[in-house]
Amino acid sequence: MHAIPDQPFDAAHGVTVLVTGGAGFIGTSFVHMLAELRPQWNIVNFDALTYAGNLENLEGLRGNARHQFVKGDICVDEDVERAFAACSKFGGKVCVVHFAAESHVDRSIISGRPFVLTNVLGTQTLLDHARKLGVMRFVHVSTDEVYGTLGATGAFSEETPLAPNSPYSSSKAGSDLLVRAAVHTHGFPALITRCSNNYGPYQFPEKFLPLMIANIGEGKSIPVYGDGLQIRDWLYVRDHCEAILAVLERGHVGEVYNIGGNNEMTNIALVKRVLKELSKPESLITYVKDRPGHDRRYAIDATKIRRELGWSPRYTFDQALPETIRWYHANSAWLQRVRSGAYRDYYQRQYGS
Ligand code: NAD
Ligand code: TYD
Repeated sequence: MHAIPDQPFDAAHGVTVLVTGGAGFIGTSFVHMLAELRPQWNIVNFDALTYAGNLENLEGLRGNARHQFVKGDICVDEDVERAFAACSKFGGKVCVVHFAAESHVDRSIISGRPFVLTNVLGTQTLLDHARKLGVMRFVHVSTDEVYGTLGATGAFSEETPLAPNSPYSSSKAGSDLLVRAAVHTHGFPALITRCSNNYGPYQFPEKFLPLMIANIGEGKSIPVYGDGLQIRDWLYVRDHCEAILAVLERGHVGEVYNIGGNNEMTNIALVKRVLKELSKPESLITYVKDRPGHDRRYAIDATKIRRELGWSPRYTFDQALPETIRWYHANSAWLQRVRSGAYRDYYQRQYGS
């Protein structure tokens, strides 16, 4: 983005991290990782619990006095104030890691409005409050999809112009620009990450990989959009979370960091790989109507984060894919409850409001 005077990360007097969207797929993994790797830090987990947020994911943190859940909407001033008040109570330097978003391309095609509200208005609301409070750092978690689509060769670098194609990616690009504006106009200490497709535990089964696993488990076919030759770069979620931590602690404020797995694959190759892993026949594949405006290929040049912050993925696809499939099998009750919507009763039962 912009060179502004660097403000080093300072953990000497304690750190409290406000994690937005910490009950979703990647946020869950990030919160668990922080509790494990930075047990001396405090975490305020701020999430509206939309259809994609699931408090059951955080069961493992029950009794951890350094983790506090705050239910609220990033678009609502009073909710954001409550979340920052919880941070102030913990004390120490406050950082924000901003995951909360509407995240599914297909839903954004049906209706773009919730995407503009949460991704654009919600991000600006958070920025306003974070600036007022004077946070130490704000990491905005974005996506490679803001760069648009690639031909057969090449990869997105941090200098690739933004050219989003879906309402989802356009709203994320909008939020990236608002973060950029806060840095440029106010010298606000933000950093942006742009990552490729994640896979791993706790992913909502509307996304392709858990959808496949769930369908196979129920003896249903696997819907492949169009010719199935679209290419995505798949990264294990823990690798993404470790990259975000590296950016939070060692990144230079005002900078963008691409994060990728160097693991490009066509959708059809991914499906065949999963079927093979589960010893299921390829006859389960059903080609269906293509997604409108479907981006053909994503690929990430992650040279900058490797060179400047020393991050590169630790997990290979050969290791982490079977592990991920095993997780969904071991947690078939979780998957079933999410598919049926029953998980949404949890908050009611647990908190009664
Ligand atoms: P997700 O949909 O699984 O989770 C989103 C979380 O945000 C949910 O817990 C939801 O309840 C919460 N949320 C939604 N609207 C909110 C609001 N208005 N206020 C407060 N909380 C709200 O998403 P994910 O896959 O975990 O993605 C997290 C972030 O990472 C997103 O910003 C996404 O754009 C980005 N990202 C995702 C991927 C991926 O492959 N999943 C890749 C790159 C970047
Ligand atoms: P998805 O998991 O929705 O992530 P994104 O659209 O953000 O990349 O989809 C991954 C790829 O799989 C994408 O090219 C669309 C494709 N896809 C299918 O072919 N069938 C499906 O049922 C879904 C959900 C996705």
